[in-house]
Amino acid sequence: MRVQVAIVGGGPAGHLLGQQLYKAGIDAVVLEQRSQAYVLGRIRAGVLEQGTIELLNQVGAGARMHREGLVHGGIELGFNGRHHRIDLHKLTGGKRVMIYGQTELTKDLMDARAGAGLTTVYEAQDVTLHDFDSDQPSVRYTKDGITHEVACDFIAGCDGYHGVSRASVPADSLQTFERIYPFGWLGVLSETPPVSDELIYANHERGFALCSMRSHTRSRYYIQCALEDKADQWSDDAFWDELRRRLAPEVAEAMVTGPSIEKSIAPLRSFVAEPMRFGRLFLAGDAAHIVPPTGAKGLNLAASDVRYLAQAFAEFYAGSEAGINNYSDTCLRRVWKAVRFSWWFTSLMHKFPDDTGFGPRVQAAELDYLIRSEAAATSLAENYVGLPFE
Ligand code: APR
Ligand code: PHB
Repeated sequence: MRVQVAIVGGGPAGHLLGQQLYKAGIDAVVLEQRSQAYVLGRIRAGVLEQGTIELLNQVGAGARMHREGLVHGGIELGFNGRHHRIDLHKLTGGKRVMIYGQTELTKDLMDARAGAGLTTVYEAQDVTLHDFDSDQPSVRYTKDGITHEVACDFIAGCDGYHGVSRASVPADSLQTFERIYPFGWLGVLSETPPVSDELIYANHERGFALCSMRSHTRSRYYIQCALEDKADQWSDDAFWDELRRRLAPEVAEAMVTGPSIEKSIAPLRSFVAEPMRFGRLFLAGDAAHIVPPTGAKGLNLAASDVRYLAQAFAEFYAGSEAGINNYSDTCLRRVWKAVRFSWWFTSLMHKFPDDTGFGPRVQAAELDYLIRSEAAATSLAENYVGLPFE
């Protein structure tokens, strides 16, 4: 098989890139190591920035999101037994976010891809990347015991943090930066109406809590937990009790609880690999960077990477290499700003096990500053709704 772009990984980054390339008349294949059902079974975050919404519209996959997604113009910050609204819409000159699960977005992109008759190879095993330091790279994979080769102009490494793409780059060509946080998030999905119309991010002496949602009848809640905790050690009752303790009394009382339909623990980390390009191999999304979920930037960053990448490939086929040459620097400027924001929001809202004195007081001062200073709230708001593209 020969294509212009071989996309490794069929998560949101790979699928969003595939749709943009299709619209630009550039042919591509998506190679995904898991089954379609497995990819769609993963529960991830659910807040889309305006730029991500626009990208979905542009590639013709936004219809269901507009029908079923929930448009939010604010978030709540909970601390000291009270909740304070940050008016995202007012503070950003009219921007909003969309609550729409990453799982749903991925499904819409898969459907659009299938509808256009484009090729995705699911359960592509043992993917290997070759000759990306030349202008004739290729990708090999095994499917049903048969080895296939895809010759291409470019490889897009959209295969997430554990993928083969970043691992294929010689270690001395790569610089990595990492911060591991000393806690995780225990998340629960339930068929219950959300406790609040808007998301609540709560700072509490027992630890962080987040009230989110997927729809008017489905809620997604998280509590900060110890890294050693296991999801199955947390009964539903223990989860609801702990969540309620971390919220203002009137919110805790209004909470409708029910059986969990998913329960899992995610560790929190910040990670960036530089650069994001090696010859004809381009990394995008989680393959290049990870942010902690506080602020829900992961999917949105993946979307902004592949927006720049699709543009760069289109420019290349129109005769200019400027886009592919600038890809890494352009992405990294936006990536580091989201890394900074996610780190800041995480640091502000969580209980750090070893810091019982200075840290919590600085958090309290900063939260008080955020609700009293329009300048401080504006900074939070403009990062939350998504910084502009270059
Ligand atoms: N070969 C082929 N596919 C692979 C390989 C491999 N060796 N390794 C991983 N994959 C696939 C995974 O199965 C997954 O479907 O690549 C895909 C990567 O998808 P994601 O991990 O969802 O990453 P990305 O598309 O960059 O999306 C970023 O996902 O983790 C969240 O917070 C993150 O919301 C953000 C989003
Ligand atoms: C979610 O709904 O899963 C979610 C929302 C906001 C976040 C993180 C996760 O910051």
